[in-house]
Amino acid sequence: MLKVALIGLGGMGRGHLACYQRLMKEGYPVKLVAVCDIDEEKFRRTDITINIDTGSKGLELGDVKLYTDYKQMIDEVELDYVDTPLPTYEHAKAAIYAMDHGLNVLCEKPMALNVEQCREMIAARDRSGKTLMIAQCLRFWPAYEQLKKCVDEKTYGEVTSAYFFRGGSTPMWSYNNWLQKKELSGGALMDQHVHDVDTINWLFGMPATVSCQAKNVLPGSGYDAVSTQYFYPDGKVVNAQDDWTINGDFGFEMIFRVNFERACLVLARDGGLTVYPVGQKGFVPDMPADDGYYREIVYYTKCLEAGVQPLACTPESCMDTIRIASAEQLSADEDSRRVDPRIL
Ligand SMILES: NC(=O)c1ccc[n+]([C@@H]2O[C@H](COP(=O)([O-])OP(=O)(O)OC[C@H]3O[C@@H](n4cnc5c(N)ncnc54)[C@H](O)[C@@H]3O)[C@@H](O)[C@H]2O)c1
Repeated sequence: MLKVALIGLGGMGRGHLACYQRLMKEGYPVKLVAVCDIDEEKFRRTDITINIDTGSKGLELGDVKLYTDYKQMIDEVELDYVDTPLPTYEHAKAAIYAMDHGLNVLCEKPMALNVEQCREMIAARDRSGKTLMIAQCLRFWPAYEQLKKCVDEKTYGEVTSAYFFRGGSTPMWSYNNWLQKKELSGGALMDQHVHDVDTINWLFGMPATVSCQAKNVLPGSGYDAVSTQYFYPDGKVVNAQDDWTINGDFGFEMIFRVNFERACLVLARDGGLTVYPVGQKGFVPDMPADDGYYREIVYYTKCLEAGVQPLACTPESCMDTIRIASAEQLSADEDSRRVDPRIL
């Protein structure tokens, strides 16, 4: 039985809490034994929701031990791993502390705010021998997994073009409003668009260069509206856009359209994936019903149980994602000039 503690019970933390509650109900060999949040109010508040359905059904903390200081929790509670849906500026600090104190870590995305922090996390993993995985949930999301399979297996030939969009209303729920502070979150570019950056990195590898146009809309929040072109040696046309200033009734949207030589895959706003093969009728492929949050935790815990590294989502690959996103920031700062992420 793996003993886990959650550090951070905000928007995403409640989604992870729901996953652990479900896994425990299902008799899965994982037990949530403690939860830490610096803000005691979070142990009582039931009104926190975020822009995407995380599966949270409210707070059912049962007999888990509650802490406001994760160092004290790590000292006092016997644990196998910590799961850290903390603000991004805390990811490296908390993950390194936990690994240096003998624990495995499932760290929320994005890995960290910059490449230097990612390197320090990887160094801590190497010196501790612990298992670190970054929760880039789209790598476990059925529609994105299906897309990855088609890319890897060339089911419909080569990709010729790809477009990704993610966005919606401005996040208003975060602790001390950290999400709207450029130096703490990296803005929409590093917090939300980074999901699609990771998908592009996972599907196609590191681009030769990126060119990003981005705009700061909300005072102090960094780049809130982003459009990036990713350049690859084979000339496929890849673009990803994000905007978290679409307020009003729009809600939240994550979509893609990836065109291959012999079919186009489209993820629609309602979460439905359709394959449109050339010369045939479009169809909806069979896919698992569970979301990426649940599936990433199942995958990580299976890796821990088996004593193997989580190869579906390595820290090295997630560091490359931060490298690409950082190159996008640089490009946007410098009038969309083309930047090679390898320089970072
Ligand atoms: N995978 C996804 O789809 C997804 C969606 C939303 C957020 N996220 C990520 O999850 C992370 C958290 O985002 P969020 O929206 O839940 O933010 P949030 O502010 O709602 O939650 C963070 C929680 O951490 C607590 N906290 C802050 N500092 C702490 C500390 N030192 N020790 C213990 N607790 C502390 C806060 O009180 C808060 O409850 C971010 O990295 C974000 O990018 C991922």
